[in-house]
Amino acid sequence: MMQDPFGRAVTYLRVSVTDRCDLRCQYCMAEEMTFLPKRDLLTLEEMERVCRAFVTRGVRKLRITGGEPLVRKDVMTLFRGLGRLRDGGGLDELTLTSNGTLLPRYAEELVASGVERINISLDTLDPERFRVVTRRGDFDLVMKGIAAARAAGLKVKINTVAMKGFNEDEFNRLVAWCGDRGFDLCFIETMPMGDIGHGRVDQYVPVSTVRARLGETWTLSESGHNTGGPARYVDVAETGQRIGFITPMTHNFCESCNRVRLTCTGTLYMCLGQEDAADLRTPLRAYPDDDGPLLAAIDAAIARKPKGHDFIIDRENRPAVARHMSVTGG
Ligand code: GTP
Ligand code: 5AD
Ligand code: SF4
Repeated sequence: MMQDPFGRAVTYLRVSVTDRCDLRCQYCMAEEMTFLPKRDLLTLEEMERVCRAFVTRGVRKLRITGGEPLVRKDVMTLFRGLGRLRDGGGLDELTLTSNGTLLPRYAEELVASGVERINISLDTLDPERFRVVTRRGDFDLVMKGIAAARAAGLKVKINTVAMKGFNEDEFNRLVAWCGDRGFDLCFIETMPMGDIGHGRVDQYVPVSTVRARLGETWTLSESGHNTGGPARYVDVAETGQRIGFITPMTHNFCESCNRVRLTCTGTLYMCLGQEDAADLRTPLRAYPDDDGPLLAAIDAAIARKPKGHDFIIDRENRPAVARHMSVTGG
């Protein structure tokens, strides 16, 4: 079991398999993005090898992210390989975060590879607004994707980024919509990661106010549910579902952080909001038949996991870190 300098056990690895996405959500990407050259990417075999090394070191949960993970060619090979680690291989959970567009094609295969839960981004239930926030998304396609996930038996959590003047009037409707379908729902504050071509400050809604407003309509009580992640959950008496609040800007949950994140080029970030990183690609490629140097690089990285992020609400709209969320997958 890996422990960081602050005594936190690291049991959760998030793996971004691509920085590309078929959407361009306003808070995530700029309209024009430069993506990483293909030659810099780890192969799927290399990614599986890194994941196996982490599982050897006590990681129990893997979340595949992007960009949009399902746009990576042949990504199901990786899911199938990692899914085998669940049967006595030491892995408790294999899951992913997706925008939903490719789920009509992949939902059943994901279940077959051992995925049980999925987090899907959905910021609005209005097709016109969906087009605006994603710059190119097809709302009906995402609805089909979500329906496919549900039909395949996946447990669904919806992620909604709260945006001032954009979806504030839909929060109650989203709670009801998720409640009807048995989905959990998380509200997220926009985080200052990467240049998106415009400021974020004007869009920022403190999620604590979302909670207060929802409390006027729904009966909310503290939930015991905890994924070891940033979300703080409440139970909704009327729907029987949970609502999570992810509040990096107003409340710091870093003291219980259990996770690190691997980029698609093999760089390990020990914290979402810090620049310090470790290169795992070099030991991976220099020693194709010996995991020793890779494991040593992982151990050295965990030994310097930072205490936490220090996102601030910057009135001049400077991002806290230069890289986009899509590089590390959140
Ligand atoms: P679980 O793995 O079930 O806890 O899900 P999750 O909510 O952590 O994962 P998801 O991919 O759905 O991410 C939801 C939001 O949480 C995204 O905006 C992520 O960027 C954010 N998030 C995830 N981990 C961290 C973290 O360590 N720090 C911060 N600030 N945000 C995080
Ligand atoms: N701030 C907050 N959430 C973000 N996401 C992407 N970029 C940001 C950001 N800058 C969300 C997506 C997705 C999850 C992985 O992160 O909507 O649901
Ligand atoms: Fe793509 Fe997700 Fe970023 Fe939207 S938030 S552009 S769906 S990676």
